Amino acid sequence: MVTTEVIVIGSGIAALTTALEASERKHVILITKSELRHSNSYLAQGGIAAALSSQDGVSLHKKDTLSAGQHYNKVKAVEKLVQKAPSAIADLIRSGMQFDRDHDGSLMLGMEGAHSVRRILHSHGDGTGRYMMEHLIECLKSTSVQVIENEAAVELIIGEDESCIGVKTLDRSGKLAVFHAERTVLATGGCGSLYRYTSNSQTVSGDGIALAFKAGAKVRDMEFIQFHPTLLFKNNKAAGLVSEAVRGDGALLVTEAGLPIMEGVHHLKDLAPRHIVAQTIFSYIQRGEKVFLDISMIKDFKNRFPTVSSLCEKNGVDLQLGKIPVAPGNHFLMGGIEVDERGQTSVPSLYAVGEVACTGVHGANRLASNSLLEGLVFGKALGGLLAHMQSRELPKEKEGTQGFAHLASLPDLPVLQEKLMNEAGIVRTGAGLTRLKNYLETFDIESLLDMDVSGRSLTEITKANTIIVAWLIAESALTRTESRGGHFRSDHPSEDDSLWLKKSVILACQDVKNRVKGRWRYEYIEA
Ligand code: SIN
Repeated sequence: MVTTEVIVIGSGIAALTTALEASERKHVILITKSELRHSNSYLAQGGIAAALSSQDGVSLHKKDTLSAGQHYNKVKAVEKLVQKAPSAIADLIRSGMQFDRDHDGSLMLGMEGAHSVRRILHSHGDGTGRYMMEHLIECLKSTSVQVIENEAAVELIIGEDESCIGVKTLDRSGKLAVFHAERTVLATGGCGSLYRYTSNSQTVSGDGIALAFKAGAKVRDMEFIQFHPTLLFKNNKAAGLVSEAVRGDGALLVTEAGLPIMEGVHHLKDLAPRHIVAQTIFSYIQRGEKVFLDISMIKDFKNRFPTVSSLCEKNGVDLQLGKIPVAPGNHFLMGGIEVDERGQTSVPSLYAVGEVACTGVHGANRLASNSLLEGLVFGKALGGLLAHMQSRELPKEKEGTQGFAHLASLPDLPVLQEKLMNEAGIVRTGAGLTRLKNYLETFDIESLLDMDVSGRSLTEITKANTIIVAWLIAESALTRTESRGGHFRSDHPSEDDSLWLKKSVILACQDVKNRVKGRWRYEYIEA
């Protein structure tokens, strides 16, 4: 058994930034189920937003963030994000990070959908995520942070005082390890790979959310999922992201016959809000029509978009033809583990940061290029806070769950992915969500929540976690009887401010062992 001051679980920008900051004064162990170069942040093609130009300001960045979020955002969290953005970027540049610059040496600022002005920084064009992560990985080398790769967190350990006192992990050989820590941080990302079509890394399967929920943490806004309109679609599979910046440079969404599909749908046409573009493409695909990005008007495409170009080449798409086949898919989870303004979850000494956390900063729909920024700003703040926290004596471990669950009948991931895509995807209905929830409940969610992980394989635990997260999405989406941002229900197609603007679906399973008559506890709380 290992004991440390801070454990960070994850390998994206939020995880690394938190670990770097906390390590200024604490011993930090960073644990990732895959490798440091394996995360959504590493794949990010969009850039990082900050109000840096003379035409811009934090109030305008705030306005754009709130309007993308359909004003469901937590305003204080948005203010923190936009106010801290310029200094966080300046710190990053001081530490050696290189962003793309104009001929005169000034930072090159790009435009993306729903931003009022140019404010997106890039590194090597569409390689921003990769270059930012390489920079942070380099910074990590000169710290005392201990990095453990290929070890998956499978259970949070709860003390007799109900605080989180660490985590149990499984390595690739199936060996269980116990890490005790004064403070534990979840930075495991969203749940993209639960959907058939996704831009996410296949390792991003919502396990941090399942772990926290099982440990009693509140989980909120799970119905709000952003579907990116343009994933490369080849051989009936989504093969990666085709950045919105391609449309920002003039590419048009067209049918096989070349007819523009966004004409007459929204005044911003191809740069309309993501959910509108995604829903439009989806309606064509459902009718059996293919949709393409016409890139023929973009000069020097390969130099401008090296990451998209190599993705196309790898997947046998000939760029000379000027058309990239696309389909929409899961891109970003706005909901997640509920945290306060300090990143604290409802379980003492358990923190969450980045996409796995729900700070309320993105509201019902995230503004493009605000997610690397969220990881950076909230990671810096949380790491700084942890660095200055007083040491604490760890209490004894609370008696763990002893429950048994029948896992043999749990579906393989492709079966679940198909169901989520169809019933809790771009267009949802009450009937479809009820079908999904009923299906998931046949696997006895309570026994999955109560399950003792010892003796279980990583595949079994992962399957159980995916069912729990899918259930959280289905339950939340069924409860919200309106459409807002990333949550669209064709049976409730409008926003219903009077009922829902100030209301959040928050689910909690506070004490599985003491649950009332076999029901876990959940609440619908005013925001
Ligand atoms: C993109 O490049 O289209 C994705 C950017 C983002 O989602 O922030």
